Amino acid sequence: MTGSASQIGGALSRRTFLTSTAVPAVGLSLLDRVRGETVPAEATLDPRQPVPLDLHVNGHGYRLALDVRTSLLDALREHIGLTGTKKGCDHGQCGACTVLMNGKRVLSCLTFAAMAQGHEFTTIEGMTASDGTLHPMQQAFIDHDAFQCGYCTPGQIVSAVACVQEGHAKSDAEIREFMSGNLCRCACYPNIVDAIKDAKAKMKES
Ligand code: FES
Ligand code: FES
Repeated sequence: MTGSASQIGGALSRRTFLTSTAVPAVGLSLLDRVRGETVPAEATLDPRQPVPLDLHVNGHGYRLALDVRTSLLDALREHIGLTGTKKGCDHGQCGACTVLMNGKRVLSCLTFAAMAQGHEFTTIEGMTASDGTLHPMQQAFIDHDAFQCGYCTPGQIVSAVACVQEGHAKSDAEIREFMSGNLCRCACYPNIVDAIKDAKAKMKES
């Protein structure tokens, strides 16, 4: 049989092969970084064993114990409880999971939580002021009706804030280009561009 996920007759399945080779290698490398230790090459660590992690999100510190393979997206949603960041494709293709790392856009579905230590993250929840005042970009999305179902909206807003801060919102074409990593199945693109232009002026004022 060719092209199958597993082989018959005692041969290794793909899952068994990955578990016994690639995954421990990745796990060891990440554990080295996380713990700052040198692990003997012959050591056999179980990558499923939780490792301690400290994450900084929206000005708060969180101490977690996670499987080293946990994505930042899952850490935010499942372990910290910040569910504003959305999981769309989980493969780096839709932008729904966009968060800011030290002010720069990153896809949290493609970022290991273990590699997020030492950085400051901002999610959609962190855009709102402590007194409940919305960020100018959040308000502009409302004012310009820049969403329908809203599933892509947290990622759009986070990405839009960075787009303006990067200086990549000087024209409609530039906004479209630098927001092209954030897909909207409801096709609210014209309204999103209008919202970003509006918020850009207000962000300068604030
Ligand atoms: S969920 Fe991360 S890019 Fe789609
Ligand atoms: S508002 Fe529905 S996917 Fe963008």
